[in-house]
Amino acid sequence: MNAIYPGSFDPITLGHLDIVTRGCRLFEQVTIAILRNPNKTPLFTMEERIAQIGEAIAHLPNARVASFDGLTVDCAKSNQSQVILRGLRVLSDFEMELQMAHTNKTLAEDIETVFLATSNEYSFLSSSVVKEVARFGGPVDHLVPAHVAKDIYQRCCAPPALNP
Ligand code: PNS
Repeated sequence: MNAIYPGSFDPITLGHLDIVTRGCRLFEQVTIAILRNPNKTPLFTMEERIAQIGEAIAHLPNARVASFDGLTVDCAKSNQSQVILRGLRVLSDFEMELQMAHTNKTLAEDIETVFLATSNEYSFLSSSVVKEVARFGGPVDHLVPAHVAKDIYQRCCAPPALNP
């Protein structure tokens, strides 16, 4: 069984990678599917996010990255995936995630949403938190892969002088 793991990934965090890594143990193939969202102005272009994710998953032989427009269920179908994989960090994620899962079920009855509980150490983490810390000059190298931290420092600010 194959899964897609859809999201914005602007940028990919260690929390996302936790879900991908564990998803790769459960599914034959996991496609990280980046939504091309016309309603958002991302920090990183689609090409940059594809490159960042490609490097972050290079050690995972059954993970791959792709972009998509439109509906997640259509992306699942075009990637021969029967499962939409999502992470749940905290209870407040649940309401929106359940709504999306039910909506997707009405759109494609044969595609299941599977939730993994994000590992405790990343339960606070989101791409927005990473960007907020970086914008105010804080360190992010404990939140994202090293090469992504470098990209963020280049885009947002200089790396912090003191990084305990
Ligand atoms: O990383 P995000 O922003 O939490 O990801 C949200 C995403 C991309 C999974 C969600 O917005 C989505 O599935 N968008 C595609 C449009 C769609 O299929 N909508 C129907 C389900 S509500």
